[in-house]
Amino acid sequence: MEDQYEQYRSLLKDHSFPLAMIDLDLFDENAEQILQRLQSDVTIRIASKSVRSPDLLQRILDKNDKFKGIMCYSPKEAKFLIELGFDNLLIAYPTMDRQAVKNLIPEIQNGKTIYFMVDAQSHLDLIDAVSNGVDVKLCLDIDMSTRHLGLYFGTYRSPITNVEKTRSFMELIQNYENLAVKGIMGYEAQISGVSDRSPARSRILNFIVRRLKSISTKTITSRRQKVVELIQDMGVVLDFVNSGGTGSIESTTKEPSITEVTVGSGFFAPALFDDYDQFKHHPSLIFGLQIVRNPTKNIYTCHGGGYMASGAVVIDKQQKPFLLEGLTYLDNEGFGEVQTPLKYSGNLDLQIGDPLFFRHAKAGELCEHFNEIYLLEDGKITGSAKTYRGLGKIFL
Ligand SMILES: Cc1ncc(COP(=O)(O)O)c(C=O)c1O
Repeated sequence: MEDQYEQYRSLLKDHSFPLAMIDLDLFDENAEQILQRLQSDVTIRIASKSVRSPDLLQRILDKNDKFKGIMCYSPKEAKFLIELGFDNLLIAYPTMDRQAVKNLIPEIQNGKTIYFMVDAQSHLDLIDAVSNGVDVKLCLDIDMSTRHLGLYFGTYRSPITNVEKTRSFMELIQNYENLAVKGIMGYEAQISGVSDRSPARSRILNFIVRRLKSISTKTITSRRQKVVELIQDMGVVLDFVNSGGTGSIESTTKEPSITEVTVGSGFFAPALFDDYDQFKHHPSLIFGLQIVRNPTKNIYTCHGGGYMASGAVVIDKQQKPFLLEGLTYLDNEGFGEVQTPLKYSGNLDLQIGDPLFFRHAKAGELCEHFNEIYLLEDGKITGSAKTYRGLGKIFL
């Protein structure tokens, strides 16, 4: 690891910091591993939120026909991606942005394939009101959280939680002439987004989480299958049944009703994806900060660094020091808005002006802090890929 640090330090000595860098060899290897994790003949929809760079999205799509379609997160983003030439977009979260939905209707008329996520009448009314007689494809979000001994295991997403509610909602949709359900999504966040052995949890809690994940997987498999059967019995022909994420590729793709699995985080392999039993992807995306102060022995203060991940405020949302054994952040200060003091107890001679390297807890959020990501290939910087932010776009 120290060798790699020395290599990066010398490679980046004339660069401006902070910077983000992706090792494309590792990124490509992650894509290969992701393909190998599939347990059936499904396709992979790329979660754009976990990549947030059009060049890198395109690089994945170009790799293999199994990478098919994008799961994006807002209608404005869908419009932007269409303008860049992307197609087959599933907007995976409901929107009440009337104008943004309206702006996509001409794209549908031009032959682009866009699916809107719905789970409430308000969503249907909005799409219907702006659709201007154009046929619009919908995707139903079926909630996949489960309860065990009164404990809610999952995330709060859709109110459509079972077969009966699916039936009522499908009957409601039949009242809208131009709206048709073409996809089903049931994302099991509690399986896919929860690691098996988090260092932030006690051993006993990790054990309980693994047990819950295993029990929950059985419940949701049965729920998803029943929902798909119901919809097919109603005479609806689906383009896809989507599910899963990086953390659940194996269990999701074993399920016969699934036609595609979503994957995003696995390409960058951020810190929250370190502790799963089924896979180990390579940390491909890192960021570097520059040491600008040395307030006392063994304390090195970097410029910038406060890129905490979203979600519940727990310790594993922090960035993780990378490459240098003995490099830790200070509990009292964490990663700061404009500067971050770090403790280093290793053997290397660090100087003001040297870089230190880190990983973000999540995949795509780091891209909101950088305009471009340097591309490292075969040990050399070969260019850079613009992030959404670098292209002047922030969607949420
Ligand atoms: C709807 C949906 N599908 C899939 C995923 C999985 O994405 P990733 O592979 O980045 O974990 C997410 C992540 O939050 C999601 O919200």
